[in-house]
Amino acid sequence: MNTGGKNRTMIRQVDDDGNLKHLISLDGIPADLLGTILDRAESYLSGPGSLRNPDKELNGITIANLFFEPSTRTRISFELAAKRLGAHVVNLETGSSSLRKNESLLDTFFTLQAMGVNLFILRHHQPGSCATIAEHANESVGIISAGEGHLSHPTQGLLDVLTMRLHKGDIRNLKVCIIGDIRHSRVARSAAQALATLGVRELFLVGPDRLLPAGQEFPNAVLSNEPDAGLSGADVVMALRIQKERMNDSDIPDGAEYFRRYGLTRERLGKTANGAIVMHPGPMNRNVEIADDVADGNQSVIRQQVTHGVAVRMAVMTLMARR
Ligand code: CP
Repeated sequence: MNTGGKNRTMIRQVDDDGNLKHLISLDGIPADLLGTILDRAESYLSGPGSLRNPDKELNGITIANLFFEPSTRTRISFELAAKRLGAHVVNLETGSSSLRKNESLLDTFFTLQAMGVNLFILRHHQPGSCATIAEHANESVGIISAGEGHLSHPTQGLLDVLTMRLHKGDIRNLKVCIIGDIRHSRVARSAAQALATLGVRELFLVGPDRLLPAGQEFPNAVLSNEPDAGLSGADVVMALRIQKERMNDSDIPDGAEYFRRYGLTRERLGKTANGAIVMHPGPMNRNVEIADDVADGNQSVIRQQVTHGVAVRMAVMTLMARR
């Protein structure tokens, strides 16, 4: 898709009254608005990992899921979140839509907007795609990124900080270690943006050189090749998948060698603070970035993250919906 070189940060995500208009990136979302979203998401939970029954706050609202990359968690949780709140949901089947007849993404958007869709959920590999659509949206229509290239996955970042807050309290007291393929990860970027805004005490990003980003991109983080540097005393550890789909074949590390050097094992987890939690955004590649007994162990909150994703998406959609 030709995005015309538009910069996603040119889109105003927050209006003059501080209301969320679009959610394309967590970059620039102020701390008080992050707090509002997290508080609202928490109000949809009866405790960590447990959803309560909400009112039908989205009655009369129509939501369209447009997913141009594979997804299990994000797509289904947006749909379930919307339906729990009483919204209508349509899922564009990209493989059998008129996109196959060369209709552009923008014309597809105009078509659905003309049918009265209020909120668009877009996952697309092309950086800039969400901003391009938001730029053409009617005043009452909101765009929510469900993952944009390697750049941004804002609802994932929100569910990650919500999970940390629910288990470990104030983000400002935490040492967080993200270990894995940071370079190609929109999850790491969105989590780092939210954590920086919320004043995280320490953020370590750990991986081999070829999976680390340029340092300037994460000015508030410590980048390291040494797992022990990040894991030592960490309150939160998040393991990330190697994102082969964004790499040349020749750059993909050998899985067994990667696990030996960077895999999150019980032994490595022993370096963390007492009561540390283990997170992973999914999908997991077991025994590549995380050992079975850590993924399924008593410090793992990975399945709770999924539940929290439903609550966060409920919060974002109710804050954005305009009739
Ligand atoms: N975490 C995440 O984005 O998972 P899916 O690709 O399954 O949506």
